Order: sequence, then structure tokens, then C-alpha cells
Amino acid sequence: MRTPRPRTAVLALLSLALSFLAGASTVPAAHAAATVVGYDFESGTQGWEPRGSGVSVTATTDSAHGGTRSLLTGGRSATWHGAAVTPPFEKGVGYQVTAWARAAAGQPSSTIALTMQRTPAGGTTVYERIAAATVTDSEWVRLSGTYTYATDSALSLYAESSDETVAFQLDDIVVTADTDPTRSGLTSDFETGTAQEWTARGGATLTPGDGFAHTGAYGLGVTNRQASWDGPARTVLGKLAKGSKYELSVWVRTDSAQSLGLSVERRLDGTPAYERVAAPRAPATGEWTRLAGTYTLAHDVDFLSVYVESAAGTEPFAIDDFQLSYVEPKPVQTDIPSLKDRVPFTVGAAFYRGATLGEHAKLITKHYESVTPGNSLKWDATEPAEGTFTFADGDYLVDWATAEGLEFRGHTLVWHSQTPDWVFEGATKEILLQRMENHIRAVMGRYKGRIGTWDVVNEVIDENRPDGLRRSPWFEIAGLDYIRTAFRVAREVDPDATLVINDYNTEFPRKRQALYDLVKKLRAEGVPIDAVGHQLHVNVEQPPTSFIEDTIEKFAGLGVEQQVTELDVSVYTDFVTSYDTVPAEILALQGHRYREIFDVFRRQADHLSSVTIWGVADDATWLSSFPITRTNPPLPFDDELQAKPAYWGIADPGRLPPLTRSLNAPAGTVTVDGKRDDEWNLLPDAPIARIGDLSAGWQARTTPAGLYVLAEVNDPTDNRNDTVTLTVGGTPYRVQRGGTHAHGFRAHTRKTATGYRVEALLPSGTATGVKVVVADAGGQETSWAGELAPIPAIRTTRAPKRTPVVDGVVDAAWHQAPEITTGTRIQGTSGATAKVRAMWNSGTLYVLARVTDPELSEESPNAWEQDSVEIFVDPQNNKTKGYDDDDGQYRISFTGRRTVGGTFDAFAVKENLTGAVTRTPDGYLVEAAIRLPTVTLAKDALLGFDIQVNDAVGATRAAAATWNDPTGRGYVDTSRWGVLRLVR
Ligand code: XIL
Repeated sequence: MRTPRPRTAVLALLSLALSFLAGASTVPAAHAAATVVGYDFESGTQGWEPRGSGVSVTATTDSAHGGTRSLLTGGRSATWHGAAVTPPFEKGVGYQVTAWARAAAGQPSSTIALTMQRTPAGGTTVYERIAAATVTDSEWVRLSGTYTYATDSALSLYAESSDETVAFQLDDIVVTADTDPTRSGLTSDFETGTAQEWTARGGATLTPGDGFAHTGAYGLGVTNRQASWDGPARTVLGKLAKGSKYELSVWVRTDSAQSLGLSVERRLDGTPAYERVAAPRAPATGEWTRLAGTYTLAHDVDFLSVYVESAAGTEPFAIDDFQLSYVEPKPVQTDIPSLKDRVPFTVGAAFYRGATLGEHAKLITKHYESVTPGNSLKWDATEPAEGTFTFADGDYLVDWATAEGLEFRGHTLVWHSQTPDWVFEGATKEILLQRMENHIRAVMGRYKGRIGTWDVVNEVIDENRPDGLRRSPWFEIAGLDYIRTAFRVAREVDPDATLVINDYNTEFPRKRQALYDLVKKLRAEGVPIDAVGHQLHVNVEQPPTSFIEDTIEKFAGLGVEQQVTELDVSVYTDFVTSYDTVPAEILALQGHRYREIFDVFRRQADHLSSVTIWGVADDATWLSSFPITRTNPPLPFDDELQAKPAYWGIADPGRLPPLTRSLNAPAGTVTVDGKRDDEWNLLPDAPIARIGDLSAGWQARTTPAGLYVLAEVNDPTDNRNDTVTLTVGGTPYRVQRGGTHAHGFRAHTRKTATGYRVEALLPSGTATGVKVVVADAGGQETSWAGELAPIPAIRTTRAPKRTPVVDGVVDAAWHQAPEITTGTRIQGTSGATAKVRAMWNSGTLYVLARVTDPELSEESPNAWEQDSVEIFVDPQNNKTKGYDDDDGQYRISFTGRRTVGGTFDAFAVKENLTGAVTRTPDGYLVEAAIRLPTVTLAKDALLGFDIQVNDAVGATRAAAATWNDPTGRGYVDTSRWGVLRLVR
């Protein structure tokens, strides 16, 4: 049981309950009496103050009922003089108070009483006796009584004596409640016309009043704020049990443009920490908005308050209807397999303090063998100021993991993010490397022998640089030597630790190559890189699992150990979409995705020493705020720690819900001869998951005559009994590898470098349900099942190899390029259109767009609502849901303003666009040059390509039209763009 340390008087007024309130171990099951507060005076006066002038209150070692100290009250000169504390009591709750008392040595006998001084809001003070007993100086006597009150009141609990001058001692005062205050929650509706225990954090004025009501007659006005953090706060000490989860919400209203958020401040021994409950949001002015979030107290505290602040500024606002409620945890499932028993490598989870308590802790120890702290060992957490090391969280987590017998991955020593500014300030190369060395020695040294693996450097690759190296301050100041030094020092500090170079997107070919080159080079130099860490932050669609496998196989060739370090599977393919409730089909898809990813891991287990998932359960994941704030459950266990399809995908795929996939089937015809027609290259093959060494990709085209199907099978051992079975509308069509098939449909097969190809024309009627089963003679089988989505034929055009002068004047060279038009309306029924041509030369794509639009406007602050042309380019025609990092949306307005969209960071595209614009009698002309540095442009290459014309009327977009994509989602999804072929 923890008890508080001495505090200042100011703090004492705010926080007079005890930190062990927050100790999960002290909170018994619901309905039993719960300890509300206890004072043992072992650490000091614990908030007790003198009552009456001349009185002194000290923690004495003269004698104690328990432990070595008690509270001595002396210097009294009136019966009501004594010691007092503000108890964390609530109206309507029944309390049981017990205490031990005695006269100080040599003092006469008297009656000691515990009394409540209570002042009801707006009423007269009353004094209510709780317990009394006659004491002497020879032994400790027990006092005991009950207490309850009914109306909002200010309270002071005090001990007094019937003798005016006697010095007396108190010890082991314990208060229990028959209603557990950590379960009962709290509301503030201000209907009393008072501030209901809300106080300003700074100098703000809090005004209960009828002008601020969200519901009822009253709310709370907040004016005269002194800083952005100044605003209303309410103590919730004693209301939150450590390790339990709570929902907090409050309604806010503001008359100015500002963002308001809800946070918690906690302190221990005067050291504050601030935690966000609801990220700041900008409510519409004059409208009530609800700020809501959940919070789990994960630390001991002697001060705990919830408050509303603004992101910036000191504008007034109002609050009303605050609510705090306890969330009953669901017990973790004990009757399901432990993940660690289902995989042939060490499986771990990223964790944090709160996850070491209650049900979360049970979940970790049931399923995982290894843990990684999500933040606690990063530079900002461990060395916030030079030479000032803070290891409280790190020590706690390492101790906990050690006690639980878990392996520990240290994350991370050197990174550009979450690194304090001082590290780089005024740093020469020498100073910087010295700071780094000091840091590594201190942090790694502290846990030597207990942390077996360290992410030594994190995210050092930038595949968009010619040398593949990220331009972080580390690199800018110290060049590659920062990586060399980091590994050298790390090896010196702990020669037994596994040293990892960790990065994200390593499954994408360009980044894979850049990291590979670096690791190869440094290891050849003797830099002690033991392992490559693949973060593997992926989403439900991208990248293909084959990329992951290719990456692992590639690094295996280097003979380096590999780990998956931060796996999670976002339910989004872009950074703008946000579900209120994630659809069940998406969670099923995520489950199948986990399955396929773990199939890769199992196959590659010889090369993988561990797989760590970046979080314990969906209730705490970095993806709920990165890259935007949204509901994003990426982990195997849900908000309530229950197994999701994602879990079953790892533990027992047989229990996955069935998945209905969907495949775009454009209108189109091909020749059924076993050759891969150009038409098939307009789309990528839809992957059919690999089983053993059998895998495939497939596509379909629709015509009135039936369904054209392509299957490209990877199957290294040739056997005439290898088959592809295409089931359409319930009818199976079976084709053998040698080409044999039944009557009634056309099919052809052909040998390929990695297996064989099947082309077929099936009499499909209107059926859209399809199953493709690929089997090898050895009995292995893999399949794809789902629905075809018929779509119009994919438009194609050509770009000849010519270089125009990009000046807004149409050179003769343009006449070589065929012209396309934006005939697909995605908004409105009339409006601006463009005639468009494209050319290419040495790494650059040129686009000419002649826009017919007599009325031009840039009034909207949003670029896409201004008159403008957008050019969509996917250099590899990957047709992905979502953007690959080199997919770009290049926009030029009629005045020549350029804006570029891509993935969240858009590193590979944001500098690519240049151009010139001229006005024409009926509109404007855009001539754009788009550098495509991630690919080598060559004749016959196919690019994903589209054009969109935005037609503004005043400050809004009235119409928009594209060349191919009819969805209006071209800005987040490349799968419906058309195709541009580069020609001579
Ligand atoms: C994330 C943490 O999970 C968040 O809590 C924090 O706010 C930001 O960092 N790659 C990494 C991790 O290497 O350290 C990051 O962790 C996620 C991306």
C-alpha cells in the first residue's frame, strides 16, 4: 500500500486523498467496501494541516501504531485545535472511518474526537462528530464511526481533544466506502448554479450561469484565461483505480475559432505529467460539441485532475455535462490458444505501463514471449536534457517483464524522431557523436544483460535519395559515421546484445534495395549489425504479401538475422478515410491478411528470430492518431481485449469468417491462345495466396460472349495433373497444366518461366460469383473466392517520345500525341472539360491540357475546389487501392498554382511537378512536366494515368470530369485510373 509524501499547502488543498486509491490491488470487487483513503504517516504528514493558531502537526517517530511514524499534534490552546485534512468524500456515499489515537508521552488523558466540519454550498457550517474515544499516554486506542452527507459541501475532517492543551498522536486512519468510488463515476451538470468543484488551472474566471447551458438551466462559462492551458479543472483523485479504464466526456462551446481538448494531469510528489483524453477539436462556433475519450491511470498519483484546454490562445469557452464513468473490463479469453504456442518464432508485443496492469497484463503473458516499450526507451523519454536521464518508466517496464519471464527488445537508441532538440543544437560532428555515445552508454548500459536486443538505429533509409540515406540531422551533421559509431558503441556496451537496424516499408522494392545495399556495405566494413528489423506497418490491401516474402528472402542472402519489429495492419488504405464503425467485412479481410502474413513468416521461420506486433490490443494503438485521428483497430485483439479475426488468422485460420473478395472485371476481349495479351497488362494480376511453393495471380474480362479468365500459376514442378479449376455461377471448369479440359468452353495453357499460364473463355451468363482453385499434383491447393465487379473497359492512350518546351505555348511536337478528353463526369452534369495529350522523354512525363472553361475562380481555399487540372500518375501501373509512395496527384490551377498529393509524406512525388499555364479565349492551357525518378521510363512501359478537370463557380466546385476514373475517388485510390503507354 502506497501512501503520499508531504506536499505543499497549495497542493494539499487540491489533492488530499491517497495515491493508493489508485492502486489496483487495493480496489476490491464491486459492491464490497472499498478503501477510499488511508493515512499511515510513514512518509510525512500526508496532507494533514494544523487547525488553530500556534498548532503544529508533524510526523513523529516517538511512537507509532503501525510502522515507525505517527502524526503528532502539539501547540494547542483550545479544544477545537487539532489536525485537519480535506477528505475526498462524495455526497451520498456511506463511509466507515477508523483511526488509532493516544496522548503523547507524559500528557494527560482526554477524549479525542474525529469531527467533520461541513459547509453546504450557500449554507451555514455544521460540525458532525464521526468517532470519539478516551485516550491515555500508555496505549493506542481505536476510534471508529460512520459518515455520510447529502448535499454538495466543502469538507474538513479534523481531530480535536476535550483537553485544551494536550498533545496527541494519530495513526493508521483508514476510510472505506460501501459504494466503491472508483466505480461510481462522476457527473457535473452545474444545475446547482455552482461550479461544482471545478476550479481554474490558472487565473481564468469560472462563471456558472444560464448563458452556458448545454442541457438544463446552467453550464460553466470560462473567461479571462491566462494561457492556452488555463481553463476549468476538476479533481478526480480517488475516482480512478489504477489499471481500470474510464470514459470521460464533456460538452464544449466556443464563439471563436479555436480547438478544445480534454486532458488529465497527474502528479506524484509534485512532478506533473499530462495525458490527452480527447485530442483538440475545433467546434463550429456557437455549437455544442462533445469531447470524449477513454483513460487508464497507469501510475501512482497524489494529484489527479481532468481539464479542458485550447490548442492555442486564451479565447473564452463554456463547458457543461461532464461525465466520468467506469468501464467494466471484459476478462481476457483463457480458452483460446496462446499465440506463442502457434508460431515457430518468438512472438512479442509493444507495450506501455498501463498494459502491465489488470486484464492487459493477463493478455500479454498469455500470448506473448517478448515485449518492446512503445515509447519509454526513446531518447525523449530517457534523456530529455543532456546528461539528465529518466529511467522511471524504463526500469518499471524492464522489471515487470523480467519478473514475468519475458524477453525484452530495446527500442530505440538513435532516431530522428522523438529526439530532443538539444541533441543537435550547436553540434559539430564530434560533439554529436559524443552525445550519441554518452546516450548509448547510459541507456544500454543500465539494462545490460536484461535487454537482449536493441534497435540501435531506426529509420535511416530514404530510398528517394540517390545514396538511399535519410537526410536526418544525424546524417546532415555526421554522415554515415553516426550509424557506424552507434553500432560500435552498442557492441562495446553489451557484446551479447543483438544489434538491429530497424526500418519501415522494407517490403517495398526500392526501400528494400536501399536498406540491403547499406547493410551489405556496413557489414563488409565490419560494422556490427546483427539483424535487420522490418517494422511492417501494413494495411489490409497493401503491400502484397509476396513483397514481404521477397524482402525476407533477399536479406537471408546476406546471412543477417531478421526480425519483424512493429507489425500492425491498418484497416485503411489512405489517410483521409475514417469509419465510425469498422465494417465486419473489413475485420474479416484483416483476419485473412494476418493469416497470409503469418503464412509468410512460418515459411520463412528459418530467417526470422522474432515477430513483434505493435501494440497489445486495439484500445491503445498509435494508428488511432497517425497519420490522422480516426478509429483504426490494427491488432489481433479488440478494444475489449477479445480475439478478432486477426487473432484467428494467426492462431487458427480454420476459424476465420469466410471472405468474399471483389475483383474488378473490365469489359474487354483477348485471344485465347495461352499468350499474355496486352489487355492483361492493363491491370495487375490479383494475387492468390502462396501455399508452400504454389501461388498464382489471376484476372477476368467481361464480354457478352462470356468471361475471359487469365491465371498465371507459379508451380516449379511440372506435372500434367496440376490443375486450375474456375467455378463460375456454380459451374466448375477444370483445365490441366497440359491443356486438357472438358468440352463446352475454350481454354489454352502455356509454359512460363515459373510455371504455367491458363487462358479461358467461359460461358458465364450474368453470374458474378467466382472461385479459382489452383492445385498441384502433390495435393497442395490455393484459391481465390469472391465476386466479380463488372466495370467499363479501361481507357488507354499513347505518349510518344518527344520533348516540348514547357512554356504554355503548344509546340509542333505535341501534334504527334493522340488527344483524349475528359468525358467522365464525376460531379455535375455539365462544365469544364479538357483535351489532353501526353509525351515522355528521359525520366519526365509531359502533359498538355487545353481546358474549356470561360468562368475561372480561385476563391475557395481548397485547391481542388479551384479551377484546375489534375494529372494522376502511377509510374508502375500498380492499380492499388490507396497510393503507393510514388503515385502522385499533380494539380495546376488556371493561374499556375501547383499542388501535389500522394501518400501521407509524399516524399517521392512532392517535388516532381513543374509547368506553365496560359489563358486562352475560352479557358486556359496547362503544360506540365512531371519527373518520375522512381522508375526508368522506356518504350512500351505502362503508366497508371488519369486527368481530372475541376470546375469552380465562386468558392465552390460545381463540376468535375475525368478521362477514365468514374468513382470520384482518384485522389485516394489509383485502381480506376486509365493507362498510358509510352511509345517511340
Ligand atoms: C510510435 C508510438 O507507438 C507512438 O505512441 C508515438 O506517439 C510515436 O511513435 N515507427 C517506430 C515506432 O519505430 O517507434 C513508432 O512508435 C511507430 C513508427
